[in-house]
Amino acid sequence: MREIYSMNPGWRFLQQDVEERNFQSIHERFYKAPEWMKSGNQGLSKVGYPDESWQILDLPHDFLQENGFSPEAEVAHGSIPKGVAWYRKTFELPAEDNGRRIHIEFDGIYRDSSVWVNGHFVGRHLSGYTSFCCDISELLNYGAPNSIAVRCDARLAELWSYEGGGIYRDVRLIITDPVRVDWCGTFVRTEGDALTIETTVRSDLNRAEDCEVRSIVLDANGKEQCSASGPLSIGIDATATLTQTAAIPSPILWDTETPYLYTLKTIITVNGETTDEYATTFGVRDIRFDGEKGFFLNGRPLKLRGICNHQDHAGVGTAIPDSLQEWRMLQMKKMGANALRVSHNPPTPALLDICDRLGILVMDETRLTGSSPEFMQQLEDLLRRDRNHPSVIMWSLGNEEMNVQWSEVGVKQLRRMQHLVHKLDPSRSATYSMNCDWLGVADIYDEHNFHLDVFGANYTFTEDGVDESRYDKFHAKYPDWPLIGSETGGSFATRGLYNTEYYDGKPIELNDFGHGGICWNGNHLKGIASAYNNGLTPWGSNFDAAWKHCAERDFMAGTFLWTGFDYRGETYPFDWPATVTRFGLMDLCGFPKDAYFYYKAWWNPEPQLHLFPHWSWAGKEGQPIKVRAYTNCAEVELILNSTSLVRQAVATNEYFETMVDYQPGTLEAIGYAAAGNEILRTVNETVGAPAAIRLIPDRTTLAADARDTAVCRVEVVDAKGRLVPDADHNIRFTVEGPANIIGVGNGNPTSHEPPKGRERKAFYGLCQALLQSTFESGPVILTAEADGLESGRTELSTNAAEGLAIIPGILEHVDRIEIDANPVDGIL
Ligand code: GAL
Repeated sequence: MREIYSMNPGWRFLQQDVEERNFQSIHERFYKAPEWMKSGNQGLSKVGYPDESWQILDLPHDFLQENGFSPEAEVAHGSIPKGVAWYRKTFELPAEDNGRRIHIEFDGIYRDSSVWVNGHFVGRHLSGYTSFCCDISELLNYGAPNSIAVRCDARLAELWSYEGGGIYRDVRLIITDPVRVDWCGTFVRTEGDALTIETTVRSDLNRAEDCEVRSIVLDANGKEQCSASGPLSIGIDATATLTQTAAIPSPILWDTETPYLYTLKTIITVNGETTDEYATTFGVRDIRFDGEKGFFLNGRPLKLRGICNHQDHAGVGTAIPDSLQEWRMLQMKKMGANALRVSHNPPTPALLDICDRLGILVMDETRLTGSSPEFMQQLEDLLRRDRNHPSVIMWSLGNEEMNVQWSEVGVKQLRRMQHLVHKLDPSRSATYSMNCDWLGVADIYDEHNFHLDVFGANYTFTEDGVDESRYDKFHAKYPDWPLIGSETGGSFATRGLYNTEYYDGKPIELNDFGHGGICWNGNHLKGIASAYNNGLTPWGSNFDAAWKHCAERDFMAGTFLWTGFDYRGETYPFDWPATVTRFGLMDLCGFPKDAYFYYKAWWNPEPQLHLFPHWSWAGKEGQPIKVRAYTNCAEVELILNSTSLVRQAVATNEYFETMVDYQPGTLEAIGYAAAGNEILRTVNETVGAPAAIRLIPDRTTLAADARDTAVCRVEVVDAKGRLVPDADHNIRFTVEGPANIIGVGNGNPTSHEPPKGRERKAFYGLCQALLQSTFESGPVILTAEADGLESGRTELSTNAAEGLAIIPGILEHVDRIEIDANPVDGIL
């Protein structure tokens, strides 16, 4: 039977390449003379290697987060020095496991990783984003210690922004019998109530074997819905695949609002004995793209209100704990987004589990475009791993690969990639995100008789500027070709910064690209990107235009805004000292910028009213301030210190804006329904001096599994508890009880403070601490102090998670920690 253990705790880590003479020479010779592989290797992965001086840590781990910032490092990658690192772990397996199959599964390592076990070379994996699994059964000692060593080289880039480094996703040890479901070995497809189930079984026996495959479908309460059984013969050291059909009576559909999940339980028996039980989570839903009407979910047209995201968060870099991934998705969902583009790389599988559970539709993306064996393998690995997730609605074959996309060479390569998609997953469409003259590229593809299933258009930039009528031209020419705004928007903003109505002392004029606002232009690189989102790329559209272009066109399946969250690197158009981009609707901590509320207003049916800026402008009395409200109310009235200033209608997908001469006091907005009745009211008040710190954790209980992480919002407030919008106090954190701060941040795109510190300056009144449980349960107190402020304090508790065998990361023992109940494929 299958056993799955977390291998996250208890690793040794060294950030440098190790000059271990014997080992290194063999490592090098291995590539020149492959026979070394057979005779084994020496050195770092041997039990007993002297690693006492190495750092002890638990995974996941992004080692670049400890490297500080340097103007010498590439600004595009966050001005963080990169490097090579080694990880080692020693563990024991009982003698009884001899004869079973032992696999080590990595969800992702950045990047170019090589794995050795007990001195034997296991494999090399180039991609920093795809998962891989190695069968190491023959290399292990049973009833005795084993060592594993992983080298990764994070120096080369796969993307043009920050990518982290190291074993930044989960690692598992999977123990099975010799006859078992192969890695990623199930594929469930649904059509109406009919299921097609493909199961690939692997056997490592020395003889051919017959087995029986039983597929049982369970509903969300574990109640059996239907099943199928069938025999399968497998050769020596081989795999075999069985296709079965079944039908769920009146299935409950998976939808964005009701993401109902079923479980396929696969039972493999040999001579009546169960050798494997394997779980696959799936959903029943119908998806299709239409050239005229866009995207359909379960027969109903649904505009994809999408955002693009990189994997990066304050304090932790790419090593984002699952609970923080979920928190990030919830912020998106609260904004009204229903779709995510995992730009531009395969995500951690945990993120797709979260999207399955939350009802978020995913454009799943491979990192590299091309038909070389390496790139095709990366795509195949992605397809096989992710094709059971109901959240995944399409496969992106890549993004803006300009040496590929514009020619017949591109046609040939994308054609092969799309064929692979159709072969391995006939249930979904392929797309590719094309930039610049994508209309011209569409013509080249059409001439070669090749249509991507869904045409992905990044922005509407042409040599003559931005021109959204290109969507219409495309549709007029290719009315049956589904079209999606695969990347749109591209304006930037700094949370909390409102002083850019004038630029360099002059009113902002239209620039060369026809936009109002700061733009990429040598004279304009002065480092201001206000929260009014009046800075944008030459190829982008303003935050509201990006949505309007899509909303006004029924044929557009949806839009994916660049981006949901800020991320490190690509600080465009700013240079050092900037280290973080400003494209996000939320900053690097996930604190919303104002534009977030524009989307919240137009992507949600419930009434919304967001008034900005804050109303604390000491020294600006009598000066005009631009005031906006992002709202879906039909009209907005603005009242300053009890005097009504203006009442204005707000058209669909527009916003309220006026200039107000500043006077301290209260600025109030009232939102009215079309019928004229008041439905919402919000007030911005002039606040007093900073007085105290307030801590607001996203929840007060954590699972004691050394993974669960609370996101704690830290506010500087005045004596009446109101946020002080310009506070920048240095806040020092202490924790009592079984939890650790794993990172801090404040969303400041030019901050060079250490993400792993125990203190952080507030940035426009806010900062964030990420508090992670340990394996112990008990009360936890987080305290925040700053000079001149009353301290903040919050109490949480960590509770033993049910079914979790708690063995902390004891370095010289196997960490047989059963994984929690998260529905990860393969765990029942
Ligand atoms: C796009 C690109 C993204 C990001 C963005 C910035 O062209 O696909 O990865 O670089 O520009 O505006």
